Amino acid sequence: LSYLSLSCLTLSLCLSAVGSDGVRVMMESALTARDRVGVQDFVLLENHTSEVAFIENLRKRFKENLIYTYIGSVLVSVNPYKDLEIYTKQHMERYRGVNFYEVSPHIYAVSDNAYRSMRTERRDQCMLISGESGAGKTEASKKVLQYYAVTCPASEQVQTVKDRLLQSNPVLEAFGNAKTLRNDNSSRFGKYMDIQFDFRGAPVGGHILNYLLEKSRVVHQSHGERNFHIFYQLIEGGEEDLLRRLGLERNTQQYQYLVKGNCPKVSSINDRSDWKLVRKALSVIGFSDDDVEELLNIIASVLHLGNVQFGGEDSGNAYITTDTQIKYLARLLGVDGSVLKEALTHKKITAKGEELMSPLNQEQASSARDALSKAIYGRTFTWLVNKINDSLAFKDDSFSSKNASVIGLLDIYGFEVFQNNSFEQFCINYCNEKLQQLFIELTLKSEQEEYEAEGITWEPVQYFNNKIICDLVEEKFKGIISILDEECLRPGDASDITFLEKLEDTVGGHVHFLSHKLADGKTRKVMGRDEFRLLHYAGEVNYSVNGFLDKNNDLLFRNLKEVMCMSENKILTQCFDREELTDRKRPETTATQFKNSLAKLMEILMSKEPSYVRCIKPNDAKQAGRFDEVLIRHQVKYLGLMENLRVRRAGFAYRRRYEVFLQRYKSLCPDTWPNWDGRLVDGVSTLVKHLGYKPEEYKLGRSKIFIRFPKTLFATEDALEEIAQPFVYRSAAILIQAWWRGILARRRAQRRREAADTIRRFIKGFMYRHQPRCPENEYFLDYVRYSFLMKLHRNLPKTVLDKSWPTPPPALIETSEHLRKLCMQNMVWKYCKTISPEWKHQLEQKMVASEIFKDKKDNYPQSVPKLFVGTRLNGEDINPKVLQALGTEKMKYGVPVTKYDRKGYKARARQMLLTGSSVFIVEDTKLKQRIDYSALKGISVSSLSDGMFVLHVPCEDNKQKGDVVLQSDHVIETLTKVAICADKINSININQGSIKFTVSQGKEGIIDFTSGSELLIAKAKNGHLSVVGTSAGKNISL
Ligand SMILES: Nc1ncnc2c1ncn2[C@@H]1O[C@H](COP(=O)(O)OP(=O)(O)OP(=O)(O)O)[C@@H](O)[C@H]1O
Ligand SMILES: [Mg+2]
Repeated sequence: LSYLSLSCLTLSLCLSAVGSDGVRVMMESALTARDRVGVQDFVLLENHTSEVAFIENLRKRFKENLIYTYIGSVLVSVNPYKDLEIYTKQHMERYRGVNFYEVSPHIYAVSDNAYRSMRTERRDQCMLISGESGAGKTEASKKVLQYYAVTCPASEQVQTVKDRLLQSNPVLEAFGNAKTLRNDNSSRFGKYMDIQFDFRGAPVGGHILNYLLEKSRVVHQSHGERNFHIFYQLIEGGEEDLLRRLGLERNTQQYQYLVKGNCPKVSSINDRSDWKLVRKALSVIGFSDDDVEELLNIIASVLHLGNVQFGGEDSGNAYITTDTQIKYLARLLGVDGSVLKEALTHKKITAKGEELMSPLNQEQASSARDALSKAIYGRTFTWLVNKINDSLAFKDDSFSSKNASVIGLLDIYGFEVFQNNSFEQFCINYCNEKLQQLFIELTLKSEQEEYEAEGITWEPVQYFNNKIICDLVEEKFKGIISILDEECLRPGDASDITFLEKLEDTVGGHVHFLSHKLADGKTRKVMGRDEFRLLHYAGEVNYSVNGFLDKNNDLLFRNLKEVMCMSENKILTQCFDREELTDRKRPETTATQFKNSLAKLMEILMSKEPSYVRCIKPNDAKQAGRFDEVLIRHQVKYLGLMENLRVRRAGFAYRRRYEVFLQRYKSLCPDTWPNWDGRLVDGVSTLVKHLGYKPEEYKLGRSKIFIRFPKTLFATEDALEEIAQPFVYRSAAILIQAWWRGILARRRAQRRREAADTIRRFIKGFMYRHQPRCPENEYFLDYVRYSFLMKLHRNLPKTVLDKSWPTPPPALIETSEHLRKLCMQNMVWKYCKTISPEWKHQLEQKMVASEIFKDKKDNYPQSVPKLFVGTRLNGEDINPKVLQALGTEKMKYGVPVTKYDRKGYKARARQMLLTGSSVFIVEDTKLKQRIDYSALKGISVSSLSDGMFVLHVPCEDNKQKGDVVLQSDHVIETLTKVAICADKINSININQGSIKFTVSQGKEGIIDFTSGSELLIAKAKNGHLSVVGTSAGKNISL
C-alpha cells in the first residue's frame, strides 16, 4: 500500500529526528501528508470516477517533484523536464528486492518487480511504455535499462553485453531520432527491445524490433523541425579528412534535405559531442572501421542526392543540372554514374513484353529522387538494427537463447491527434487500439484470475471493448487497410478521393466511422471534405486521405532499384536484394506490413506478463514546473487512464495478504496484539470486526483481505498513527537493543574465531618451522621475525658502551648483524656530533695512546680512565733562565722525570720539556740536553708497568752523549705527548726482557726488566741496569 509506505517512511524519519518536539511535528506532517502530496496510488482516491480529482492528485504530486503515481500496478509518470536526484545508484539499491508497495512509486520499482517476477515465477515479462511525443517514453526505457545494467549480477562477458545494450541507444537515436516541435529528441520509429537473462539473472543478450520509421523526414521537415540527428552530427563533428572523402562541406545550409525546416541549430543538442558518442558507441557495439565507412558513405550520398537538381527541356523531359553530385554519388554508392543519371530521369515500363525507358518530367524526377533517398535511408536503418542485433545476440553455445528469460521493453508512439492527421497518425492510432486490446485482455484476465484464486465472486466490470474498432481497421476484405490496399493495387485512375468513396461504400454504416458526406450538418463544420473520422476508444480523430495511396504504396521505380542492386557498397548489397527484381509479386504495402508486424508484436506481448508505464507531458514548452491542465486532461483521456482506474477499482480498492495486513494493524486490537496464534484469516476477521468494518466494506479471500473503499483503509491507517508513537518507541527500543546485542555477539564470535585460527596457525607453523617457507609456516616465521624486530626496537642499546643485543632467530642473523653495525654507527655519529673541541683533543690523544700501548704495556689499562693533562709543569715550576734560554720556542708539555746516568745509573731529578721542534732535558737553571725531533731515532719502553724509557739518538752526533735513559711517573701520557709532538707514533718500541741502548759511540748499555712485587731500579752485578717492574696496578706510573 503506497500511502502506508509513505507513512512508514515518515515514521522512520521521526525516529531519526532529535527531540520530542521534532518527532511530534514529523508525526503531524505524516498525518497531513496525504493532503499535501496526494495519494501514491489512484485506487486510493475517494472519488475515483472524477477526472478533476485525478488531475488534482497529479498536480499536487508534480508540485512536490513526485512524478510517479500508481494506478494499481500501472505506473503514471509526468515528465519533470528537469534532472531530479532520483536516479542515483543509492536509489537503485533502495528499490532492489523490495516489495512493490513498500517504497514510493518509481520506474525502478516497476523494473524490479518485473525482474523478480521473471526470476521467481520464470515468466517472461514486458514493459509497455506509452505516451505522446515528449512525454518521456524513451527516457523511461533508458532508466529501466540502466537499472538492470547496475543491479543485475555481472561477469566480464555480461559486462560487454550490458555495454552493448546501453550503447545501442545513442546509435539508434542518432539514426532514428530527430528534433520535432514537440521533442528535441523525438523517436521517429517504434521500438521493442528484448533483454535476455540467463539462469543467474544476468543479462546475456538482446534483440530489437523496429516499427515504421518516419522516412518522409529524410526528404522533408516541417518548419522548426530537423532531419535525423546523424546528418548534423556528421557535418558538425566529422573530421576534416572524412568530410573531404565524402565530398561534404562543414555547413548544413548547403544541403537541400537539411534546410527545409530552417532549424540547423538546437540549444539542447550538441551535434559535435554527440558525434563522438555515436562513434564510440559504434565501436563498442562491434562495428568495424569498414562498416562505419560504408555506413557514412550512405549517409553522405543521401545528402548528395538531395542536392541533385533537375531542369526541364522544352519537351518537358527532366535532365540533371548538377553533375558534381552524380560523381560523388557514383563513388559513394559504388554505382555507374551514367546509369544512375539515366535511372533518375527515366522510368522503365513494360509494354507488350518489351521494356522501354520513358522519360520523366521535372516533378516526377524529383519525387523519384526522393523515393530513392527514403528507400536508401529506411533500408539502411533496418540494416543497422539487424547489425546491432547480431552484436547483442546471445553467444553462449552451452545455453541456448530458448532457455533465457526475457524482459521486453516497448517504447512506442502514443495516441496522436493533430490539426491535420494523415496516414502516419492512422497507423500510430491503430497501433494504440491494438495495445489497448491487449491491456483489456490482460488486465481483466488477471483481475478475474485473482478473484477466482481467492474464491471471491467475480463482479462483471463495465468497460468498453475496443475490438470493434480494431476490426474496423484490420478486418480482411472489409477493413480500412484492405480497402486501401485494394485501391493501391487496382489498375485505372485510383486516387485518395476514390479511396474515401470506397470507404464510405464499405464501412459507411459502422458506428465508429464517419465522413464529411455521411456526417450531420454540425459535424460537417469541423470536418474537411477529404477527411474521414474514426471514433477511437480514446476519442475522435479526423484523418485527411491526402497522400494515403502514395504513402501506402511507398513506390520506388524499378530501374532505381536495379541501380541499387548493382551497388558495390557492402551495406546496400544487403539492403537491395537482386531477388527482389525477379520476384514478380507486388511488395506488401506499408499498412499491411505494419499490420503484420503489429500482429507479431501482439503475439510476443501476449506470451508475457505486462507492466505498464504511462507517460504524460506537463506542457508543450518543455518547461520544468509548468502544469498545463488542459494538455494533461487531454492525455489522461487519450491514455485511457480513467478507464484504467475504473476497471482497477471496479471491485475492491485494496487487497493485501493476511500476514502483511495483520502484521501492520495487529496493534489496533487487544486480541491480536502482540501476537495472534490462530489461523491468519481468523486473526484478520477478529481485527476488522474490532475496528468496526461493515460486511459490505470488505471480503475475506483464501489468502487476502479485499477492502472495497479507500476511506475504510484510511480510517484504519489514521487509527494506527494515533497509537503509533508509544508503540513506535517501544518497538524501536526493542529493535535497537536486539540489533546492538546482535552486533556484540557477532563481534565476540568473530574474535573467538580469529583467536582459534591464530593459535591453530601458530602450532602448525611451529611444527614446520625448520622447513623452507611454505603456507603452513609462513605466518609463524613472519611472526617470529616480527616479534624479534619489535623486541629489538624496544631494547636498542642506549650508549656506545652498552653491548647488549637480543639473540636473533636463525633467519635474521645476518640482518641482526647489519642492524647492530648501523645502530653502533648511529650512536657513534650522534656522540661525535655532540662532543666539545677539548674533549675531542683528549680523545685523539687517548686514541694515539691506545694505538701505541693497548695490549702491549701492562700499565696501559690504568691510564685509560685518567685524563691526560695539558702539561705537568707550569711557568712557576720552571726556572726563568730556562724559559729565557728557550727563547721563542713555545713549550707544549713539561713533566718531571728521573734521569739515569749512562755509566753508573745514578738517578737524578730532571725536567723534560717538549716544544714544537725538540725535547729538552733541564737541570735546574740549565738546558742540559736538546734533542731535535728529527734526530730522535726511536723510543724504547718495557712491556711491564714501570715508567722507564730510553730516547735513542744517533751516536755519530757529537753534540749528543748517547741515548737518554729516563723514568716518568706518567710514562703513557709522557710518551704519547712525545710521539705526537715528534710525529713518532710508529717509532716507539715496546720490549720484553731488556732494552739495549748506546752509552757512547761503540759502547752499549743494557736495561733488564723483570717483574716483581716492588719497583726497584739499581745497577746489577753484571753492569746492567736492573729494573723490577711491579705487576700491573701496583705502581701507578702512567
Ligand atoms: N524522467 C525524466 N527526468 C528528466 N527529464 C526527462 C525525463 N523524462 C523525459 N525527460 C525530458 O523530456 C525529453 C523528452 O523525453 P523522451 O525523448 O523520452 O520523450 P518520448 O516520449 O520518447 O518522445 P517521442 O515520442 O517524441 O520519442 C527528454 O529529452 C528529457 O529532456
Ligand atoms: Mg522517444
